[in-house]
Amino acid sequence: MNGNSWYKEMAVYHIWCRSFCDGNGDGIGDLWGVLSKLDYIKSLNVNAIWFSPIYPSPNADYGYDISDYMNIHPDYGDLDLFRKVLDGAHERGMRVFMDLVVNHTSDEHNWFKESRKSRDNPYHDYYIWREGRLKGKLRWKHRIPPNNWMSLFEGEAWEYDEGLDEYYLHLFAKKQPDLNMANPKVREEVKKIMRFWLDMGVDGFREDVITFIGKTPGLPNSYPKLPVANGMKHFSNRPEALEYMREFKNDVLDGYDCFIVGESPLTSADTALKYLSEGPDRVLDEMIAFNHMEADCFMTDMIQRPFDLKKMKRAFSEWQEKLYGKAWNALYIENHDHARIISRYGNEDYRVESGKMLAAMYMLQRGTPFIYQGQEIGMLNIDLPDLDSYADVQTINSARVAMRFMPKKKVMELVNRSSRDNARTPVQWSSERNAGFSDGEPWFPVNGNYREINVAAQDGDPDSLLNFYRKLVRFKLDNPVALYGDYKELCADSDRLYAYLREYEGKKLLVVCSFTAESVRFEAPEDFDLSRGEAVFTNYEYNYVVSNGFTTRPYEVRVYLFE
Ligand code: NOJ
Repeated sequence: MNGNSWYKEMAVYHIWCRSFCDGNGDGIGDLWGVLSKLDYIKSLNVNAIWFSPIYPSPNADYGYDISDYMNIHPDYGDLDLFRKVLDGAHERGMRVFMDLVVNHTSDEHNWFKESRKSRDNPYHDYYIWREGRLKGKLRWKHRIPPNNWMSLFEGEAWEYDEGLDEYYLHLFAKKQPDLNMANPKVREEVKKIMRFWLDMGVDGFREDVITFIGKTPGLPNSYPKLPVANGMKHFSNRPEALEYMREFKNDVLDGYDCFIVGESPLTSADTALKYLSEGPDRVLDEMIAFNHMEADCFMTDMIQRPFDLKKMKRAFSEWQEKLYGKAWNALYIENHDHARIISRYGNEDYRVESGKMLAAMYMLQRGTPFIYQGQEIGMLNIDLPDLDSYADVQTINSARVAMRFMPKKKVMELVNRSSRDNARTPVQWSSERNAGFSDGEPWFPVNGNYREINVAAQDGDPDSLLNFYRKLVRFKLDNPVALYGDYKELCADSDRLYAYLREYEGKKLLVVCSFTAESVRFEAPEDFDLSRGEAVFTNYEYNYVVSNGFTTRPYEVRVYLFE
């Protein structure tokens, strides 16, 4: 914060620890495993790591339900071990960011346990407790929740507590009660947590659903009523949230040389600028946007539609254009919240080709690239047999709801394609037992394709996807045109090609990506002579340019540099 800009020359590796690498043989990924893989992470040429939550948690939402903010989950190690990882990363020139989840805690956090003891408990106002409303007349009078908001993960956004005769708000699962950020004491707790990690040497935070932390005073009803996330306008991107973020910046973050990326579902580029615009009012350095992840679904990954390239292009271009010269993008195509990208926007039959194309497609835009564990080797979705095999609360709850009005078989098809668990299978390190992830019994199934798709198989192969990623990250960080160039989309009308230009101080980069197995003719703009460009990245043997264009092979990508 406070005017730094090193994040503009940064590439981040994202670790979801439980499935990364098991170092102590209990079947669960941990920090011993991370420590053993620091050289591997560094070999990707990234210069930062983001950890999804590794704090103590009952794992109702695998770490996004925190029961102790200033400690490490015993499954993953302890604070001493974390310090070793931190030092090891720093020694290798990599910064470390923690996930900061303060919209909600776990219901097993001590604050919540206290808060539900009595209405006058000092922690009661740490959460959003309200009395129910009464509906109906006379004998038919019954209690209903304080308002009609719906959670994102588990039905109504309110849960009743007998002892208190009050409801608490949970925008996610029932085990994730929302903190009352309007209470200054809660904000002081958040600042304490921030200082704790920053003083230890952590370099910043990825702030979970941070644009949800402010709620409309009075918590009004919201109409028309939606079955999921109803009330969004009263809990997303509220001016109160911006105010709280400003307070965190002024009181804490500006005092450190740190980086803050905020996660913000259903937020437009225009709204994002309220937080991101460079200058003294910037409260977030970057934002994890969702629009480009909705090209094959509607609002949530579960409501699926056929992949629409134009929709994806519009989303990327809108963020590129609107933020240009004002703010900085976070670039990603995978994380722990989405199914694997080759299975979604690419083609499993052209796994390596489409994997390389997708990598160049997003990473060469303007912004900081994030790479999610396993993405660099082209891990794919897993096919699990039944709902009981899934672990993710969002998947399980939405599937149960869908089964009320859809045949089970259809729901399972949707789940197979869209579940977040697709991204949470153990990382495939080798063709050895359990993909080299663990000597014990892995906590979650390993994808059966690990014998072909694994790090060891790709490490020494110059044509592998893994080595393509390594070269791409190096190129991105070494070339000012890839970092700072402007962005201009070409052939925006095409529903099969995505092409764009970057330009900076006389140098130009042309990126052409095919999103189909069919042949498509690409023609360079008139003022470009392709034969004069250096083809810096391709995913096939290079073949020549004909009349300043070429016909694509399946999922072909070509990147030309003009000096
Ligand atoms: C966003 C996180 O990325 C996701 O994994 C989590 O379930 C929700 N926020 C709730 O914390």
